[in-house]
Amino acid sequence: MNDIATAVASFASLSTRLKVETGAQHERMHRLMECAQPFASREAYARFVAAQYLFQRDIEHLFADPAVRAAVPDLDSRGRQQASRDDLGDLGAPVPEEPIASVGVSMPAALGWLYVSEGSTLGAAFLFKEAQAKLALSAEFGARNLAAYPEGRAVVWRRFVASLDSETITSEEHDQVIAGANAAYDRFGDLLQRHFQLD
Ligand code: HEM
Repeated sequence: MNDIATAVASFASLSTRLKVETGAQHERMHRLMECAQPFASREAYARFVAAQYLFQRDIEHLFADPAVRAAVPDLDSRGRQQASRDDLGDLGAPVPEEPIASVGVSMPAALGWLYVSEGSTLGAAFLFKEAQAKLALSAEFGARNLAAYPEGRAVVWRRFVASLDSETITSEEHDQVIAGANAAYDRFGDLLQRHFQLD
């Protein structure tokens, strides 16, 4: 951490620390998506959905842990594993198989994984528009994994941020949540690189 990051870490909320300290990882996702060009064709987009499906499987694997359920009480309204799977079916693409990457991940790191998945629903608003405009997909066909939650993106995100910043997560645990977020970004980056054969 540089001096500014250290100063922020000493008083900032967990949600602020996550945003600031994983900002470079988010930038990296933008760069990978630019190289991947997932909206160039439905075939390219299916590669993105395969990566999304595997990542969402990693995320939902964590939902079974009672400690994760206690930290984020509305987990059942989250997660896009089934949506991604249905999208692969719509696109006529195979469902990929590989070991779950989040095995052994527990609280507080698990919360960092959830942060990356939940935060990605915000950027998904832009991706959803592209999927509609360029590939004629929709919330009912092919682009379910990018559609907003029924309650709306902002409401569900704000509720997640409230869970992050609740007093049940102590400040001693914050570094581990951030490490979990970095691991989740690394995982999604790796999936994009492999599915699009990027260097
Ligand atoms: C080209 C693709 C992407 C675009 C255009 C994009 C765009 C955005 C935008 C506009 C926000 C909201 C920022 C704000 O309200 O301050 C956001 C937030 C976020 N995105 Fe992305 N994003 C993309 C890809 C991803 C990916 C692949 C991931 C992770 C797998 C991701 C994770 C996040 C997270 C965690 C946040 C929450 C940041 C925070 O407020 O703490 N994004 N994104």
